[in-house]
Amino acid sequence: MSDADTSRRTFMTLAAAAPAAFATGSAASAQTAPFGPTALPGVGRAAVITGSSRGIGAATAKRLARDGFAVTVNYLTNRDLADRVVADIKAAGGRAIVRQADVADPAAVKALFDAHDQAFGGVDVVVNNAGIMNVGPFAQMTDAAFDRMMATNVKGSFNVLREAARRTRDGGRIISLSSSIIKTPPPATGAYAATKSAQMLFSSVLAKELAGRNISVNAVAPGAVDTQLLRQHGEAALRGIPEQTPLGRLGLPEDIAGVIALLCSRDGAWIDAQTVFANGGLG
Ligand SMILES: NC(=O)c1ccc[n+]([C@@H]2O[C@H](COP(=O)([O-])OP(=O)(O)OC[C@H]3O[C@@H](n4cnc5c(N)ncnc54)[C@H](OP(=O)(O)O)[C@@H]3O)[C@@H](O)[C@H]2O)c1
Repeated sequence: MSDADTSRRTFMTLAAAAPAAFATGSAASAQTAPFGPTALPGVGRAAVITGSSRGIGAATAKRLARDGFAVTVNYLTNRDLADRVVADIKAAGGRAIVRQADVADPAAVKALFDAHDQAFGGVDVVVNNAGIMNVGPFAQMTDAAFDRMMATNVKGSFNVLREAARRTRDGGRIISLSSSIIKTPPPATGAYAATKSAQMLFSSVLAKELAGRNISVNAVAPGAVDTQLLRQHGEAALRGIPEQTPLGRLGLPEDIAGVIALLCSRDGAWIDAQTVFANGGLG
C-alpha cells in the first residue's frame, strides 16, 4: 500500500470516528446530539452571548437560536432591545432568556452564567462579544474613557473567558470578538486596538489550556460593521469604507454572525486557537 493510500485510510478512519470525538464528557451532555453536518448543530445545546441586545451580538443570538441553540441574551442598559431579541427568537420557535450583567463585574458575570446554567442545564458555546469603542489620540484620550474601555473589553473579556473556561462542556466552542483594526490601526485607535489584540492572545492561550477537551477557542476579527458602535462616532466613521472594501460594502451584523455560526458548526470544528478575519477584504 502506498503512503498516500495509508494516509487516506487513516483519514477515513478518523472521519468515521469523528462523531464520537464530538461527544461531550458530562453525563448530561453525553446524551445530546454531536455537532453534525446534517442535524442542526445546536440541537440540545446552549449558548451565552454577551452584549446581545443589539449589533453583532443580537444577530449572533438570533442566528445561533435558529441553528438550534438555547441562548442567553445579555445586555448592559438596553433592556427593551434585549427583550425584543428574545421575543424574536421565541417567535421563530427558539429558546432564550435575558439577563442584565456588566461584564466588567466578575460577580455579575458569574451570576449571568449561573442563570444560564439554571435555565438550560449547562453551556456549550460562549460568545465573548460585549465591547465598547472609545477613540481619540493619545494626547487627548481621558483616563475615564481609557479605563472604562479596558474594564469592559479586557477585564470584561477575562471575566467572561474565566467562566467559560470553568463551565463550557466538552466539545464546546468559545469565541471572542477581536477586530481587523489590530492589523493596521489608524491614528486615534491605539487603546481600542490594544483591547482587541487582547482577544487574539486570550483565545490563543485558552485554546492550549483547554487542550484534550475538544473545546475550540477562537477570535473573530470583523472589519467595519454597520452598528451603533461605529455610528456613535458619526457618519464620518463610515465614510469611504464601502469604496475601499474589495467586496464593495459595509459589513452587516449577520455577516459576522455567520462566521461565528460556522465556528459553532461541525464544519468549523478543526479551527482552533485562530483569529478569523472577516472584513470583505479590507484589512
Ligand atoms: N461594529 C464594528 O465595526 C466592529 C468591528 C470589529 C469588532 N467589533 C466588536 O464586536 C463586538 C460587538 O460590537 P457591535 O458593533 O455589535 O457593538 P454595539 O452595537 O455597540 O453593541 C454592543 C453590545 O455590548 C453591550 N455592552 C456594552 N458594554 C457592556 C458591558 N459592560 N457589559 C455587558 N454588555 C455590554 C451592549 O449592551 P447595551 O445595548 O445594553 O448597551 C450591546 O449589546 C465588540 O466587542 C466590538 O469591539 C465591532
